[in-house]
Amino acid sequence: MNKNVKFQNYNLPSSERARIKNQYPMCIWMTGLSGSGKTSLCNALDKLLIENDKHTYILDGDNLRHGLNSDLGFNVSDRNENVRRTAEVAKLMVDAGLIVIVGLISPFQKDRTWTRNIFKADQFKEIYISTPLALCEKRDTKGLYKQARKGLIKDFTGIDSPYEIPKKPEFVVDTSDKSIDECVFEIYEKFKF
Ligand code: ADX
Repeated sequence: MNKNVKFQNYNLPSSERARIKNQYPMCIWMTGLSGSGKTSLCNALDKLLIENDKHTYILDGDNLRHGLNSDLGFNVSDRNENVRRTAEVAKLMVDAGLIVIVGLISPFQKDRTWTRNIFKADQFKEIYISTPLALCEKRDTKGLYKQARKGLIKDFTGIDSPYEIPKKPEFVVDTSDKSIDECVFEIYEKFKF
């Protein structure tokens, strides 16, 4: 950052924006393999929160890669940047008073720790979607695992690119033995939105 750029404080604190929404803004960060259920969980949690008059927004990895992150690929530095940009956008949205639901593989601990540290401690909740690789690969909803196994896609998470299991997530969800609705209800109960 250029030393001549000074941070400008706004007249109103972010708590004022949260107050008129009557909610406690936070970032719910879902991390896990492709096919683990992140997008389904994001959508179901979004629906449940809206039904309860909460103002939310979803930041989904695949969708962001169609716009904001369309210049990024899947090597390590591009994934670092993908997480950094998404985290910064989520932080702005939390500042605006929203409950932001992020669904990003975000495979590296370093990036997730960096993300955690840009939020206030109680405004960042990391949820590890622990659905095992074997099941994600069996589901293969987008047909990408098959291509990765054939070597047609490089740097695929879980195949030839690592996924580092979160060290201290606020919550762990495994979609293999529970329905999406059951998982979301657990998340809803846990965080008392
Ligand atoms: S992240 O690792 O940088 O956080 P992100 O969540 O944005 O990934 O995007 C993952 C989505 O991109 C997957 O759901 C999958 O559909 C698609 N994808 C395409 N190529 C890859 C790859 N090499 N590794 C993982 N996902 C990929």
